[in-house]
Amino acid sequence: MIETEMSLKEHDESRQGEAVMLGDKEKASGRKLYIESYGCQMNFADSEIVASILLDKGFSTTSDYKEADVVFINTCSIRENAEQRVRNRLKEFESAKSKKPGMIVGVLGCMAERLKSKFLEEEKLVDVVVGPDAYRDLPNLIEKVDDGTRAVNVLLSREETYADINPVRLNTNGVTAFISIMRGCDNMCSFCVVPFTRGRERSRDPYSIVQEARDLFNAGYREVTLLGQNVDSYKWAPQGDEAGVDRTPITFAKLLEMVAAVDPLLRVRFSTSHPKDITNEVLYSIAKHENICNYIHLPVQSGNSRVLELMNRTYDRSWYMERVDAIKRIIPDCAISTDVITGFCSETEEEHQDTLSMMDYVQYDYAYMFAYSERPGTLAAKRYQDDIPEEVKKRRLTEVVEKQRAHSLFRLQQQVGKTHKVLIEGFSKRSDKDYCGRNDQNAMVVFPVDNRYKVGDYAYVLAETCTSATLIGKIVD
Ligand code: SAH
Ligand code: SF4
Ligand code: F3S
Repeated sequence: MIETEMSLKEHDESRQGEAVMLGDKEKASGRKLYIESYGCQMNFADSEIVASILLDKGFSTTSDYKEADVVFINTCSIRENAEQRVRNRLKEFESAKSKKPGMIVGVLGCMAERLKSKFLEEEKLVDVVVGPDAYRDLPNLIEKVDDGTRAVNVLLSREETYADINPVRLNTNGVTAFISIMRGCDNMCSFCVVPFTRGRERSRDPYSIVQEARDLFNAGYREVTLLGQNVDSYKWAPQGDEAGVDRTPITFAKLLEMVAAVDPLLRVRFSTSHPKDITNEVLYSIAKHENICNYIHLPVQSGNSRVLELMNRTYDRSWYMERVDAIKRIIPDCAISTDVITGFCSETEEEHQDTLSMMDYVQYDYAYMFAYSERPGTLAAKRYQDDIPEEVKKRRLTEVVEKQRAHSLFRLQQQVGKTHKVLIEGFSKRSDKDYCGRNDQNAMVVFPVDNRYKVGDYAYVLAETCTSATLIGKIVD
């Protein structure tokens, strides 16, 4: 399984598919909202918060932007082409807006935060610009636009986690859902815009996280993915100074166990782990609980220590290898995926070879691979020259992609002949005679429908063969 910038269409860093349009929900008396999301899973989760806030104010939703009163685009800034895609999409909204006087067009998310009120100057059709920590202010901002002023709120917060807001699940399969457990990022990877667009790192109250997982389970969901830019630095302790309150901080390992305890039938996944912070304690929690999935997304970015230092990743090649060794020792059948950047500032051919040899060392199940894209305001943009020619970045990317293609196939082939516990997520894209779902290691498995099983059930599936991205098999009793 591979995903590259070259093959991505509507979305960017997202690990869940195309840009998602809001499905039709019950019609309320008020106006209609259309929201489209780009970027990472956290952005998709945020759109569910936004929908919840506006549905509370009497909005209903529509999957057709042409009939919407409010059109929101939740944006990503991670690479230049992510922003370009949003600008192109905004152009498509222009004619709809001209045909529907009073239509409000809003830009939310990371690009809103990065460009702030400049957005209003650059894109004339935009009425409202809202950063990721200001969504509670949306009803008020919409009112301002109704009164004839364009509105901006891009204040970042040190506290906001939207813990009390019950997300409206959008485009859901009814089986798997995301739960944001923290916001922001305190790392300063030199290539990365996220600390600027998402602000300081803060962890959400664990009891609200467990409650959300429990509510989802009771509504029939069977898998939750806990989301944060760096989940291993999750940390929460009660505020205040009353006596008798246990103030031992809750770590990510503890949180994982708390969510896993909701029900043995609820699968728990998480993303993203940072190689500098992932602890053996977390690995032991995964190993100990059958329902915490044996799958870790551990972005390496580069296999070369000098480049990692320039990237300010705060680990080196041997540290990363040691963490991979620990994963393989403590969770022997764990799948590992990664993110790779090719052609970072001053990267030499030998250093690029180190990335390829790291891939050989780990044998990743899956990878997201990108050519370096300089982002304004980042440490790398200020300190280093973006001096690797575009064609060299692309050629290195192709080499990384080719290697990953081979490794993904190899890792899937290793799973052929084995029986997998699969959570049935729905019908296969190709045929409604087949179910699809994932095994513990996050590999997609396709197998013929068996009427004794329905979507949301677990089935044991013998993998008989595989394609480059999917295991194919049949249910065994
Ligand atoms: N918090 C995660 C990454 C979030 S961004 C982590 O630390 O791993 C997702 C991925 O986008 C990154 O892992 C990186 O591979 C890629 N990325 C981020 N900034 C980029 C840039 N300027 N150019 C190319 N790829 C970038
Ligand atoms: Fe960006 Fe680094 Fe934070 Fe990930 S850990 S979001 S790459 S700054
Ligand atoms: Fe993109 Fe923002 Fe996520 S920049 S990757 S949407 S945190």
